[in-house]
Amino acid sequence: MLNKLNPWKSQNQPSSLSDRISQIKSQEVPAHIAIIMDGNGRWAKKRSLPRVAGHHEGMKVVRKITRLANKLGVKTLTLYAFSTENWKRPKMEVDFLMKLPEEFLGTFLPELVEENVRVTMIGHKEKLPAHTLKAIEKAMESTKDNTGLVLNFALNYGSRVEIIEAVKQVLNDVDDGKLDRERIDEETFSSYLMTSGFQDPDLLIRTSGEIRLSNFMLWQLAYTEFFFTDVLWPDFNEEHFVEAVEVFQGRQRRYGGV
Ligand code: FPP
Repeated sequence: MLNKLNPWKSQNQPSSLSDRISQIKSQEVPAHIAIIMDGNGRWAKKRSLPRVAGHHEGMKVVRKITRLANKLGVKTLTLYAFSTENWKRPKMEVDFLMKLPEEFLGTFLPELVEENVRVTMIGHKEKLPAHTLKAIEKAMESTKDNTGLVLNFALNYGSRVEIIEAVKQVLNDVDDGKLDRERIDEETFSSYLMTSGFQDPDLLIRTSGEIRLSNFMLWQLAYTEFFFTDVLWPDFNEEHFVEAVEVFQGRQRRYGGV
């Protein structure tokens, strides 16, 4: 049967994962993939576990997907790990989420260094607990010369605030005579965003069946291909990621042209 959302699924798939990976690498691989990792709470609830157990399981998936993205030759992987709205969650859950970067990097930093991965972050650093920031900054420092995949954590990130801050900075620079208002174009404005220096995502993946952006990279996703799946993030595996890239490769991007 034809699968309208994912037509690639309707075609014959090579059998093994390694065949599919080789096939992907022979075509254009999305340079920047962004992921909204959703469904941790529901994964835990289904197992009568506390919500944080879902986040912990989700952290393990981050490792798997990072390794695979690097292997595929993806240049940047941006992961929405904590939004500016997530502070509304119960304190215990927020505290747990804020400890995950430390746990993840405490365990996997040597592996990331060895695999030539560079760790970066977008989001407001000010409100992060000192221990969270310390872990991220240590990882950024130890991997700054790496030339492989850029693993970019969106932590305390919210796109509307990002855009408002950029507008304010643009106005300041115009007032100070550093920027000519007539020369403000898309490229100039992009350089005021937290993603300055990154190219826009080619592919956005959101897990758990929710079909929305939740204040994530609203400017940067203007021409991005979207892949939504019902799979909950802790269940998301290499096959699912490969499928998302295959679907991307089966799409035609026209950027408003014909
Ligand atoms: C949304 O699921 C998920 C989050 C708010 C947190 C995502 C964080 C991780 C997957 C771990 C990050 C790992 C590192 C290394 C920073 P939800 O809790 O909203 O799920 P629900 O919609 O089912 O309740």
